[in-house]
Amino acid sequence: MHHITLIPGDGIGPEVANAARKVIDATGVKVSWETVNAGEAVWKSTGSLVPDEVFQSLEQNRVALKGPITTPVGKGFRSINVMFRTKYDLYINMRPVMSIPGLETPFNGIDLVIFRENTEDLYSGIENIKEPGRAEATKVITEYASERIAESAFRYAAEHGRKKVTVVHKANIMKLTDGLFLETARKVSEAYPTIEFQDMIVDNMSMQLVTKPQNYDVIVTTNLYGDILSDLCAGLVGGLGVVPGANIGKDMAIFEAVHGSAPDIAGKGIANPTALILSGAMMLDYLGEKQAADMVRKAIQKTMEKRTVMTVDLGGKASTEAFTDAIISNL
Ligand code: NAI
Ligand code: MG
Repeated sequence: MHHITLIPGDGIGPEVANAARKVIDATGVKVSWETVNAGEAVWKSTGSLVPDEVFQSLEQNRVALKGPITTPVGKGFRSINVMFRTKYDLYINMRPVMSIPGLETPFNGIDLVIFRENTEDLYSGIENIKEPGRAEATKVITEYASERIAESAFRYAAEHGRKKVTVVHKANIMKLTDGLFLETARKVSEAYPTIEFQDMIVDNMSMQLVTKPQNYDVIVTTNLYGDILSDLCAGLVGGLGVVPGANIGKDMAIFEAVHGSAPDIAGKGIANPTALILSGAMMLDYLGEKQAADMVRKAIQKTMEKRTVMTVDLGGKASTEAFTDAIISNL
C-alpha cells in the first residue's frame, strides 16, 4: 500500500486531481490517499494558505500528487509552489515533453526532458524598492545547486540511453551568474564522455525549439528559463493540458503538471486532465510501479489515437469526466 498526499489545489486543480486519482486507482495499484489542501480556496475557508496538516502529511508520506495553486500577480502572498520546493529542497524540476502518437500537433517525434533548477535564481524572492520608481531583484546562482541539477540531468541521460545534454543559459550577458551555471555544468559533463555536451543561449534556444524541437534530448537550465521553456515546449506537443512534471528532492517528491490553475476554464468541467494523469504515471514510476505507469501512458495514447473522446483544448467536445472515463476504459 502506498500512502500518498493529494493536494487538489485551486481553479481546475480539483477537477484534474479527481481524474488523476480515479485513473491511478483503476490501475489496481493499492494507494491510500490522504487529501489535504493548500492555496486560495482553503485560505478563503480557513484563513490559512497552507494549514499545518499539509506539512504533516507531506512529511509523513514523502510523496504527493498536487494540483495547481493560484498565486496573485504583482501583489499578495509568495508562491506556495516555490515555498514547497525550497522548504523541502525539491531541487529537480523534471518535465518530459513528448509527442503523443495520435494527437495532431505542429510537430511529430519530439522526445525531450527538461531539468529545471528548482530552488534558486530569480525565484529566490529577493526583491526591493531602492527608491520610488526603481525596483531591484537579486539573481542567486550557486555552484552547489548548479552542480546537483547538472549531475541529475547527465545521470538521467546516462541511465536512459539519451545522447545529448543541452545546457541553456545567458552567460554572454550574465557572465558571473549564468557563467557559473554553465561552467559548473561543463565540469559535470566531463564525467560523462559518451554523452554529447552542448550549450545554447536561451534566446537562440527558443528559436531552435520552435523550428527543430526534435534535435533536443535532455535540456538542463536555471529556474526562470526552465519555467518559460517548459510552457514553450508544451505548446509544441498539444498544449499545457498534456505536459506532466515532478519536483524531486533527496527523499521527497511532489508530482504536478506544468500548467497553472487555469482560472479561465475553472469550474466548467472541461479541463484536460492528461497532464496531471501523466504526472501520476511519473509518480507510479517513482514508487516502483512501472507496469501500472506504462498502462496509464498506453491508455492515454489509445484514447488520443481513437480521437472520438477528446477535450476542448485538443479540438474535441468531451468533458473532463467523459475523457477520464474513456482513458479508464482503455486501461
Ligand atoms: P495556466 O497554466 O493556468 O493557463 C494558461 C492557459 O492554458 C489558459 O488558457 C488555460 O485555460 C490553459 N490550460 C492550462 N491548463 C489546462 C488544462 N489542463 N486543460 C485545458 N487548458 C489548460 O497559466 P496562467 O493563466 O498564467 O496562471 C493561472 C494561475 O496558475 C496563476 O495564479 C499562476 O500563478 C498559477 N500557476 C500555478 C502553478 C502551479 O501550481 N504549479 C504553475 C503555473 C501557474
Ligand atoms: Mg510555469
